[in-house]
Amino acid sequence: MNKKLPDWQIFTFDEVDSTNDVIKNYCTQSGKPVVVRALKQVAGRGRRGRKWISQKGNLFFSFAWEIDLRDLGMLVLISSLSLWQTLHLLNPRLKIEIKWPNDILIDGKKVSGMLLEKGPENFMIAGIGVNVSQRPPESDVMYPTTSLSESGVDISADDLMEKYLIKLSNNFALWQQGHINDLRQEWLDAVKGVGKTIEVHQENVVIRGIFKGIDENAHLLLENEKGICQIRAGDIFYIESK
Ligand code: BTN
Repeated sequence: MNKKLPDWQIFTFDEVDSTNDVIKNYCTQSGKPVVVRALKQVAGRGRRGRKWISQKGNLFFSFAWEIDLRDLGMLVLISSLSLWQTLHLLNPRLKIEIKWPNDILIDGKKVSGMLLEKGPENFMIAGIGVNVSQRPPESDVMYPTTSLSESGVDISADDLMEKYLIKLSNNFALWQQGHINDLRQEWLDAVKGVGKTIEVHQENVVIRGIFKGIDENAHLLLENEKGICQIRAGDIFYIESK
């Protein structure tokens, strides 16, 4: 057993369709929280039905966590905060920000995305993709992207996942010990655009307002002439930059 990661059972594959699918076969069979990692994905999925281009050398993994669905907001928060903390420690001089709900940006460009899905029984699956050595071709994505190597973070996908899981375990422990407000505050300090005008793009609507933060379910709070509304899903665009 790896001494630094006593709590995770890790399965690594050369190639899978999507780690978010493969993990569903493993998460109920282990007494420990499970991680599935792949060196390559041939059908990587992104949020809102998009593709996640999964080039070799980048990091693709999913972890499964058994939770009460009322705690989903904390899972969203902890999974993105843990990656933010990991990257910040690797290079504190970089401008690293969380983009609601759980993207990570470096200098305003996306370096990581997460896809949370319901797993079997009471398991939630969090799938994380990080552009470690390569970013997707510009023609294939609708937003600016970067990679860690391009941004001055020199780390392998293996080491990054190990460091991430240590942070994640620590944050789960803090959550269980009741440090919810501290974790929330740290997330709010790391998120881009609080207090600024943003647009939230949903299937057929665009809603504009001031980004006020998040509620206890990690839903976005947006203030406009109609008052404060809670937004469960969507893509945000920054109208005023930070
Ligand atoms: C997004 O930003 O749209 C979310 C991207 C999530 C990608 C990861 S890679 C590992 C896991 N397996 C998938 O098919 N998707 C997630």
